[in-house]
Amino acid sequence: MKILGLVGSYRKLGNTEVLVKEALMEAQRLGAKIDMLRLTDLRIEPCKGCMACAFKQEECRISDGWSTFRDKLIENDAVILGTPTYFLGPAGVIKMITDRNIAFQYGAIQHSGNPGAIIGVSGVKGWEPFALPMLNVFMFTCGLRVIDQVMFYAQGPGEILLDESALKRARRVGFNIFEAASESAEKRTYVGEQGVCPACHQNLFSVKNGVLECALCQAKAEVKRANGGIKLVFDSETLKSHRWSEEALLKNFSLAILPSGPRFLKERDEIEKRSRKYRSFLIKK
Ligand SMILES: Cc1cc2nc3c(=O)[nH]c(=O)nc-3n(C[C@H](O)[C@H](O)[C@H](O)COP(=O)(O)O)c2cc1C
Repeated sequence: MKILGLVGSYRKLGNTEVLVKEALMEAQRLGAKIDMLRLTDLRIEPCKGCMACAFKQEECRISDGWSTFRDKLIENDAVILGTPTYFLGPAGVIKMITDRNIAFQYGAIQHSGNPGAIIGVSGVKGWEPFALPMLNVFMFTCGLRVIDQVMFYAQGPGEILLDESALKRARRVGFNIFEAASESAEKRTYVGEQGVCPACHQNLFSVKNGVLECALCQAKAEVKRANGGIKLVFDSETLKSHRWSEEALLKNFSLAILPSGPRFLKERDEIEKRSRKYRSFLIKK
């Protein structure tokens, strides 16, 4: 069994790297072969939105460090992803790679369903609302199934080394990912913090037309008063057909993404005509 640690911090032996290594050490102790990739060592170009992967099922046309990341992902049976929080969400390298992972969605590589665990690191409690949700999106675009996720708190590089309970929890991540990778896919269960949303275990919601909606998976809930506080009653249908369910993804691909190609080709001449006045605007001759 091969387990890959991904480190999304530029800081060498920063909190993220320490925690990912602690988890990898535990997995290694249990018998896994381990590997680690620092995502910040890769030169990653932004997705150019050419959609060749979606409409032509081509490999990504950009040749850069993303293919190193992709090959590592394919070589391994499970992933531990660690990333610091920068401005309420994951560090930028995570978004850069997430966008490029569109090539996994529609290209030659299909979802593996391999297990993944998330280690987030923040400096200040309450200043990390988008971190775990966006790290889940990253894992999803890699075709990984999140079985554990945890947010740690530390500021200065390596400060987490003074927090024994954090190191213990990181070892637990290593244990959990080893166990999950040892099980068959059907037997794998989620063992991380439960969170509020029963489908994706996140705590981030938006209000749409008076209904509460999980920002990550779109499961809907009604707010009820209970014991002096509130209680969320989830709609069982949207829990089943949430954004990341196979059914919803297929629907999105066939009804929203695929038709956009022929529609664009049909409208291209008109768009070209209307865009003329913008073409030379602000362009220095
Ligand atoms: C550019 C930058 C932005 C940050 N923004 C946040 C933030 O919004 N919320 C937070 O809790 N911590 C924030 N931090 C603190 C880091 O998450 C924290 O220092 C973490 O331990 C860094 O992990 P590392 O040592 O693995 O790089 C920020 C740090 C930097 C450098």
